[in-house]
Amino acid sequence: EPSATSLRTYTTWHLTRYDDCLTALRDPRFVHEERKYLAPEVCEEPGENISSLTSSQRNWMLFKDPPDHTRLRSLVQRAFTPKIVQNLQPRMEHITTMLLDEMEAQTEVDLVQAYAFPLPVMIIATLLGVPMQDREQFRAWSNILFQSLDFLVSDTTWEQASQAVDALRAYLRDIVHERVKQPQDDLISGMVRARDEHGKLSEDELLDNCILMLAAGHETTVNLIANGVYLLLREPEALVQLQRDWTLLPSAVEEILRYESPIQVTTRFVSEDVQLGDVTLKKGDYVSPWLGAANRDPAKFTEPDRFDITRDPNRHLAFGQGIHFCLGAPLARLEGQVAIKAYFQRFPKSTFVGDQAWAFKPSVLTRSLAHLKL
Ligand code: HEM
Repeated sequence: EPSATSLRTYTTWHLTRYDDCLTALRDPRFVHEERKYLAPEVCEEPGENISSLTSSQRNWMLFKDPPDHTRLRSLVQRAFTPKIVQNLQPRMEHITTMLLDEMEAQTEVDLVQAYAFPLPVMIIATLLGVPMQDREQFRAWSNILFQSLDFLVSDTTWEQASQAVDALRAYLRDIVHERVKQPQDDLISGMVRARDEHGKLSEDELLDNCILMLAAGHETTVNLIANGVYLLLREPEALVQLQRDWTLLPSAVEEILRYESPIQVTTRFVSEDVQLGDVTLKKGDYVSPWLGAANRDPAKFTEPDRFDITRDPNRHLAFGQGIHFCLGAPLARLEGQVAIKAYFQRFPKSTFVGDQAWAFKPSVLTRSLAHLKL
């Protein structure tokens, strides 16, 4: 961050075992708000800008600990009901049909651009109540935002990310004001209602947690859809099995999430000394729980490198665990199921095109296909 005046160095522990990752996700000694725990000489004021979070990210429930996390999550959860998710299914089916119609005219497509990418952003825009005509602009801002999160490989600068966040905030603020006057059947109206009935949610917190839904729910779901089609084409026996029995679809989606986890790694800060196995993690250290590695841990999963769409049990960590367990998991699961089934029903004989039909992005945070030519 440009305003930062000093650098801190951290010891970071990379956790790759399932059980260690679970501990880091569930144990309250692993936290996000490092500012609360740092010594005064490192952080004089509790609100001092020492981390690389943008001003919006500081209000995200994802980066908060209780009690703020509990308050923010319960208010958003009140609005993000199972009924809202179910009601989105016809819209998902409509969008997939439209995209598949467009693909039908072509002999070769990049599935990422033509199919996996447009669906999630259109669904989140619908969920939040963004009007149709603004969706392209909305999509451009969300791309910048998501790229900036993958900071190790991203070309997006901190300034670009901040500008996109400011523009999104201003845009969403107008929608919030409209929904206060005229509530509709969307998530923002639900959040405004939750705020008015249960209080304790500032306007910035409301806006920034809408931005979180957008950032958290966009590229992750793109990856689930694209990775799913890619895996099923690489494993033709699994595809045939699924095409014979579509009741296997939910467990196939869980196996896709385990096998090629869209989010590979997350982070936590150690708030007090913790003994993990034979090492002591010191207060002030960082940990990186590698969800993608935990999901292939042989101590937890039999034949972890085998893609098995009937795997049971399949307690993968692709959506995290504990208090930050993905709030959008039901939506992502439904989108993945609708999109993968619709694709293979329309194009049952789809094949890879050329020797370089796919390439993964060089990302540490996500398991994302750069392209998938079919
Ligand atoms: C949290 C993965 C889709 C909203 C998380 C976390 C993971 C994750 C791993 C926890 C991170 C941590 O503990 O550090 C995924 C994957 C998705 C997906 C793999 C798609 C396949 C979505 C969607 C939405 C969403 C569609 C919303 C529309 C959220 C939110 C949180 C979250 C709000 C923060 C929850 C909290 O802090 O309490 N997600 N996500 N996600 N996700 Fe998702």
